[in-house]
Amino acid sequence: MIIAPLTVDRISDLEKLLALGEPYIRLRASSDYWLYATLFGNTCPIAIVDGQVVGNVIAFRSQVDPSEIYLQDVMTHPNHRRAGITRALIEEVHRQASLWACQRLFRTSEPDNQAAHRAWLALGFTNVPGDAVEHGVSVIHDYKGPRKHRAVYERRIES
Ligand SMILES: CC(C)(COP(=O)(O)OP(=O)(O)OC[C@H]1O[C@@H](n2cnc3c(N)ncnc32)[C@H](O)[C@@H]1OP(=O)(O)O)[C@@H](O)C(=O)NCCC(=O)NCCS
Repeated sequence: MIIAPLTVDRISDLEKLLALGEPYIRLRASSDYWLYATLFGNTCPIAIVDGQVVGNVIAFRSQVDPSEIYLQDVMTHPNHRRAGITRALIEEVHRQASLWACQRLFRTSEPDNQAAHRAWLALGFTNVPGDAVEHGVSVIHDYKGPRKHRAVYERRIES
């Protein structure tokens, strides 16, 4: 497996991968991926196996609080799951975060995404206590706006 920053020439391959991600991943506009590759490549690694893009993370360092990195989209090809691809991609973002002396990775999930819940816990994230528990997952109501309830996960980075 090769882990590399997202580059513009890989965007069409990435879109093919992300098109398989419903219901939890929704394909964005091509120009969004151009932006991620051009401005945020260091925190948007892709995983390549046999020349194919089989996993990715889209993440951004906050400009409001530069000690934080937000993980927006995480996806592994259905044929390559449970093979450590997300683990390797998160470690790459963590490595970059450590170089920048960041203190926290965080992300949100749809409360019913049990595979993601298990993955974040296995990868050393904690499920931030919320105002409700649904299917064993702590959820913060209206976190991303009205009725946009989310489970929030964070992983601290030792300096
Ligand atoms: C969630 C997702 C990104 C995990 O990717 P992955 O590459 O399969 O994850 P990894 O192989 O690195 O898994 C690391 C650990 O997480 C846990 N884990 C991952 N998927 C799991 C599942 N479906 N059930 C239980 N545990 C799981 C395991 O402990 C795993 O380690 P192990 O296989 O050695 O036991 C993948 O299932 C996916 O792409 N889902 C669809 C898109 C999505 O929901 N993205 C997240 C949006 S919030």
